[in-house]
Amino acid sequence: MIPILARTRSGLAAARATLRPPVVLVPTMGALHGGHRALLGSARQIAGRNGSVVVSVFVNPLQFGAGEDLDRYPRTLRADVAICADEGVSVVFAPGHEQMYPAEQMVTVRPGSMGDILEGAFRPGFFDGVLTVVLKLFNLVTPDAAVFGEKDAQQLALVRRMVTDLNLAVQIASVPTVREPDGLAISSRNSYLSPPERVSALALSRALRAGQAALAGGPAVVLAAAQEELGPAGRADPPLATDYLALADPDTFADVPAGYAGTALLLVAATVGKTRLIDNARLCFEAAP
Ligand code: PAF
Repeated sequence: MIPILARTRSGLAAARATLRPPVVLVPTMGALHGGHRALLGSARQIAGRNGSVVVSVFVNPLQFGAGEDLDRYPRTLRADVAICADEGVSVVFAPGHEQMYPAEQMVTVRPGSMGDILEGAFRPGFFDGVLTVVLKLFNLVTPDAAVFGEKDAQQLALVRRMVTDLNLAVQIASVPTVREPDGLAISSRNSYLSPPERVSALALSRALRAGQAALAGGPAVVLAAAQEELGPAGRADPPLATDYLALADPDTFADVPAGYAGTALLLVAATVGKTRLIDNARLCFEAAP
């Protein structure tokens, strides 16, 4: 199927009017890869035989801070449309900046305290930018459902929270992180890595696996096991500089206490060279007998 490519809001509205429900949106910043293909596959399944998948491709300046990679973020629309054609997408919405932000964005979505910790602490304003553009996309596409990746766990939790707190009529689905055979989580930013940086970056997924293997010891032991991988990586050449390693409640992103029982997310963010990467794993702590 060749998708309709809509570059304007009016083009999207015209295309949207032809779509059969349910309409499932996959919001992306483009540079589509295997991780996005998994989102598209899930969207296709939710849409079913009769429904429609819409993909948005927009590198949202509102979620990039000063000195971040807005200018060098990969832009590959032609290849993205080819992948969408392959995955049975009906409409690709790839608006220009003036379509999404025709005037200064005065009113934005504030994520609250959950948006100020972890990713939010290292990237101030990031989640305001994400939630604002996601809400705008929801209003433009009016999807029945939207699909997000679990790699961006805090983003996913905040989108779910926005949907609940603002009474949005969109069902949110999530898809597990897709990994390279060596464990590296697939990300558009992996394309920035030189071969030696890529080797250093593998410590992220190694740390998560070490944490998972130490599950029976409880939260402190899990964090220590993960840190044992990140410590040497910080002294490697090139070094992997850890921003944070945390074991968090998946709904609030607050640190889990000692003796915690239930699901937690082991979250890690680190920079190698000029590339910042994030990853996470879901762990389930059993109650002490
Ligand atoms: O995860 C992303 O690619 C972006 O944060 C999103 C959800 C498309 C908003 O720009």
